[in-house]
Amino acid sequence: MSAPDVKVLVSEAAIAARVGELAERISRDHAGVGEVVLVGVLKGAFIFLADLSRRLTIPRTVEFIALSSYGATTRSVGEVRLVMDVRTPIVGKHVVVVEDIVDTGHTLAYLMRLLAARSPASLRACVLVRKPERTKIDVPVDYLGFEIPDRWVVGYGLDAGERYRTLPFIGYLEQEPEAG
Ligand code: PRP
Repeated sequence: MSAPDVKVLVSEAAIAARVGELAERISRDHAGVGEVVLVGVLKGAFIFLADLSRRLTIPRTVEFIALSSYGATTRSVGEVRLVMDVRTPIVGKHVVVVEDIVDTGHTLAYLMRLLAARSPASLRACVLVRKPERTKIDVPVDYLGFEIPDRWVVGYGLDAGERYRTLPFIGYLEQEPEAG
């Protein structure tokens, strides 16, 4: 896909190196606990989850969950809802939530509350990128890929109006897309 309007923020090589480090840490932290359930948050986490899961050295299964905010204008007040749930109960399981981006923090806060209420054996969050300047709710992130500036980022799962998700790097748009 050609994308002349996208500038590289994190290169493909830098992502691969970081994903390897995160996978190593997750594998180490969960060594000997048995199976880990990776819960990927659709859609944005699908590429990160695919790469991360293949670099783990521990037994793992993959689940997906889909959440939605009530439109861009209300995201800042944190109205998140569950659109699609995991298929398997997580009670007593070691769970790692895999998310592409933490912006305000509302989505991850909602998700961690939702999953914690189901009594997993452990619950951690692995996030590819976080924008500290945009944080409204401080949600603990156990494994973080990159802290990034407040730019409209795309690629490696992240979209702008459903475009750019399959770019191999994390880029940013020089001109922000219109809200709506
Ligand atoms: C994005 C991203 C997070 C959320 C972060 O999802 O994947 O889930 O926004 O924002 P927050 O920290 O302000 O809550 P989006 O609604 O764009 O859906 P997508 O993953 O399907 O693109």
